[in-house]
Amino acid sequence: MLETNNIYLGDCYELIKEIPDKSIDLIVIDPPYQIDGKSKTQEKIDSIKNDITKGIYKLNQELIDNNITQGIREEIFDEFMRIMKIPNIYIWCNRKQIPMYLNHFVNKQKLNFELLFWNKPNVMPLYNHQYLNDVEYCLYFKGANVCDPKSYEDARTVFRSPTNINDKNAYHHPTCKPLRIIETLIRNSSKENDVVLDCFLGSGTTAIACKNLNRNYIGIEINPKWYKIAKNRLEGCDANGQQSFLLK
Ligand SMILES: C[S@@+](CC[C@H](N)C(=O)[O-])C[C@H]1O[C@@H](n2cnc3c(N)ncnc32)[C@H](O)[C@@H]1O
Repeated sequence: MLETNNIYLGDCYELIKEIPDKSIDLIVIDPPYQIDGKSKTQEKIDSIKNDITKGIYKLNQELIDNNITQGIREEIFDEFMRIMKIPNIYIWCNRKQIPMYLNHFVNKQKLNFELLFWNKPNVMPLYNHQYLNDVEYCLYFKGANVCDPKSYEDARTVFRSPTNINDKNAYHHPTCKPLRIIETLIRNSSKENDVVLDCFLGSGTTAIACKNLNRNYIGIEINPKWYKIAKNRLEGCDANGQQSFLLK
């Protein structure tokens, strides 16, 4: 059985089976996005003349190198439903994944949903006669009787916040989510002392948000590098193990 206020190194598709039925109040996850792109060598990327194409390849390569382009395996959805007391789950995703999530949680499970947006005003200016890549999506699926936003500010569906360079520099994770946004989701949809699960923990943002808001957390991360960084972060240290009073 996984204990609360602990983070685990391992594969969540296996470890989740150790979480008892109806024991989790809220799930907040940011699983790998589904990104189709072939690996490129640094030499090949450096040789690209067009800055826009080069920028896209560089971003994709960072995700491929960190093994976070494979999306989510749908088999875990039944486990989510089993462990939640009542359905209450936030899932970050890219545009391509939205139909798959809606199909399962709305069409099949008959849950209500909200679509939230993180709008990043400082994305790379990769304009190529296509819509900009300036938004990330967060789907919220819920059953009846879950907590809801307590203030007008927290009820907004669009979060405007630059890509968080500071956290990326401090914790090195390429897809580190802004702590302020994750705190808003948790504050809106849980109460103090509730148990929150993030089984794709990355650099530990959800666990830190829970600590700050007096929620209990369980975190799972498969990559030893991010697991260690999340552990350090929970102890108030950055990715280099340096204590910092400026970081949370
Ligand atoms: C998009 S990142 C999450 C970033 C996180 N929200 C943050 O703020 O740092 C997804 C994470 O899930 C991890 N992951 C991928 N497959 C996993 C699995 N089967 N079990 C546990 N973690 C996994 C990846 O290593 C990666 O760190």
